[in-house]
Amino acid sequence: MIDDLHINGDKKAWCVQLSVPRLNTRSTMQEVKTMQHPPILVIGSSGKTGSRIARQLADRGYSVRHGSRHSTTPFDWDKPDTWPAALSGVHSAYISYFPDLAFPGASQKIEALTKSAVAAGVKRLVLLSGRGEVHAERCEDIVRRSGLEYTLVRAAWFAQNFSEGYLREPALEGLVALPAGDVREPIVDVDDIADVAVAALTEDRHAGQLYELTGPRLLTFDEAAAELSNAMGREVRYRPITLEEFHTSMQEIGGQLVADVFTEICREVLDGRNASLGDGVRRALDRAPRDFAGFCGVAAAAGAWDRAA
Ligand SMILES: NC(=O)c1ccc[n+]([C@@H]2O[C@H](COP(=O)([O-])OP(=O)(O)OC[C@H]3O[C@@H](n4cnc5c(N)ncnc54)[C@H](OP(=O)(O)O)[C@@H]3O)[C@@H](O)[C@H]2O)c1
Repeated sequence: MIDDLHINGDKKAWCVQLSVPRLNTRSTMQEVKTMQHPPILVIGSSGKTGSRIARQLADRGYSVRHGSRHSTTPFDWDKPDTWPAALSGVHSAYISYFPDLAFPGASQKIEALTKSAVAAGVKRLVLLSGRGEVHAERCEDIVRRSGLEYTLVRAAWFAQNFSEGYLREPALEGLVALPAGDVREPIVDVDDIADVAVAALTEDRHAGQLYELTGPRLLTFDEAAAELSNAMGREVRYRPITLEEFHTSMQEIGGQLVADVFTEICREVLDGRNASLGDGVRRALDRAPRDFAGFCGVAAAAGAWDRAA
């Protein structure tokens, strides 16, 4: 609890810390935290990572400013005039870019956002980045050079792509087709990304850190499909496809640009370069990352693959 409260080491935070022993109820603690600390902006707050981060921060008593096109204070990557209000009075900001840092114009927007953050007096940025992605690394550099405190959260392939993302439907249909051959990927649980991001947003000791977030083991997509089958109680198969086949299927779903960019991302990250484990969860949280089998069980129990969900 003390760590939670010690958000920026300033006098106010010390006041809160000193008053801790006299506070009896959790709700009183939360009220004090909310009063003492400026809001934390969560960009992408309705997405896979952002929703978990916003919920966790709110549960811990932090004042959260949701940042999406549909939030009370709207934030739109395509409308920079929405950024100053979203950043106003904020202590730290979580940045998840949509749709992906590899899209044309992403680095320019990250650059412009960091400048807006500096102008707004934001202290700390936490950037969600992608492992093995050259465009994402360019954006990391921009945040690194921003002059603000920063933490870079460089994530592997999300487990929740199968339960909340574009692979949910294929998983339900029983066939996941990817241009991944028999490459091994250390699939990461988005709950771990959220835990690390919350720590980075609220604790000083993560400033300047780059965390490579992966799961605890390497899995082929064939092995991932077997874990999904186990948890879902019906067969899910993996079919390796070519990049050209992947492009065609993406084009049907999202059009030319989406197909081009995501095919390039797959060409980049599914060539085996990410077939190693990262130590980011251990370094940031001093615990092991969640395993993919555990994710499958939790997601199934929560109804992630119920047809109506
Ligand atoms: N999937 C993976 O395996 C993987 C791996 C590593 C890194 N990443 C990175 O993860 C990031 C995506 O994060 P996520 O999966 O947590 O998000 P997500 O689930 O894709 O959610 C998208 C969020 O962005 C918001 N959004 C959509 N269009 C927007 C716009 N024009 N302006 C502002 N907000 C907008 C959405 O809310 P509204 O609709 O309300 O605006 C929503 O909150 C990407 O940058 C990707 O590179 C993904």
